[in-house]
Amino acid sequence: MTILFKNIKELIQVRTEQISFVSGKKMQELPTIKNAYLLIKNGLISDFGAMDECPNLKVDEIIDATGKMILPSWCDSHTHIVYAGNREGEFVDRINGMSYEEIANRGGGILNSAKKLQETSEDNLYEQSKVRLEEVIMLGTGAVEIKSGYGLAVDAELKMLRVIKRLKENYPIEIKATFLGAHAVPKEYKKNKQRYLDILVDEIMPKIASENLAEYVDVFCETGYFSVSDTDFILKAGKKHGLIPKIHVNQFTAIGGVQIGVKHNALSVDHLEEMRDEDIATLQNTKTMPVALPSCSYFLSIPYTPARKMIDAGLPLALATDYNPGSTPSGNMNFVVSTACIKMKMTPEEAINAATINGAYAMGLEKKTGSITVGKQANLILTKNINSYGFLPYSFGSNQLEKVYLKGKEVNFNREL
Ligand code: NIG
Ligand code: FE
Repeated sequence: MTILFKNIKELIQVRTEQISFVSGKKMQELPTIKNAYLLIKNGLISDFGAMDECPNLKVDEIIDATGKMILPSWCDSHTHIVYAGNREGEFVDRINGMSYEEIANRGGGILNSAKKLQETSEDNLYEQSKVRLEEVIMLGTGAVEIKSGYGLAVDAELKMLRVIKRLKENYPIEIKATFLGAHAVPKEYKKNKQRYLDILVDEIMPKIASENLAEYVDVFCETGYFSVSDTDFILKAGKKHGLIPKIHVNQFTAIGGVQIGVKHNALSVDHLEEMRDEDIATLQNTKTMPVALPSCSYFLSIPYTPARKMIDAGLPLALATDYNPGSTPSGNMNFVVSTACIKMKMTPEEAINAATINGAYAMGLEKKTGSITVGKQANLILTKNINSYGFLPYSFGSNQLEKVYLKGKEVNFNREL
């Protein structure tokens, strides 16, 4: 099956060489080809270039993209898409003045979602989660990481991970799974947190390894949740079971989570709303990708990750949604890219790099997706008629996507699946 896109107004994020990620000043470079063609063969990008060099080939389908742009699908490297129910009651409590912390302290927050999930069957959880997955695919996401962490008990954590596995099997989108058993301490272990950590390590991790249920391990390293030494304990154990760290750090307080992440060669450290100079220094010249989650800052009214300071210090940065029922009930990467520009003063070039190639790296998928490169999956966004790619973040809240393609096929859940 071959498809040829012709007359593309601008083909965005074209990389002739395989790159892992971009950092510092290089984040400002977003290579494009104006008036371009793009050839897809059997789900992969096979060729691209300027229209006046377009080969005269026999293809199965020709798509005329006059006035429209094509960019690689968004890569959302941090989500909690699998969850049960919602928490709009707590949303109203926050409007009325309670803080996220106060809600958590009275047994709400993550524990509230865990209770709901424990009472939900695996089939029902799958049905609820697939609606969100289909939603984000239609919003242009072409690769996604999904975490456990609303089970907080052996069976419920495994239930979440099995739902993620089922989503992987049934949808064309690339999915990576992360074990986040250390998301909150269940009430019954408040006085004996170590017992809970032992359960995660001794009872759940071996099952994850034997059933191949996750690639990554995560910890909510935060005051009132898990300390730096708890994080060290979980990451060490994860390594024995082949789980690579991707961790929640510096959301509300900076307690050394960045340092422990880098020590364990974490693939990414995520949130980073509270960054000390020493945290920026620790990340320099490492392979650990910092990940910002601006929709979470927006929804909770907490500081934004200091992207300018970090990029100006030479760091890379990825952008992700954090889609979850408590701090970010939204999986819209278009909004994330806009908000990064509007609130974090990232340029459109930096934000698009952060949401494509750098996001792919933060999921270990940089060889498969995240740029227009020969051999990569044809995960594509075809825009509506727009004047420039800067219009995407500029027109925040408006939908500028006309069609989305995964592995070379147009996806539309209103009509198929
Ligand atoms: O990434 N910070 C920890 N975990 C989630 C929020 C969890 C929740 O409130 O349900 C996050 O923001
Ligand atoms: Fe999160």
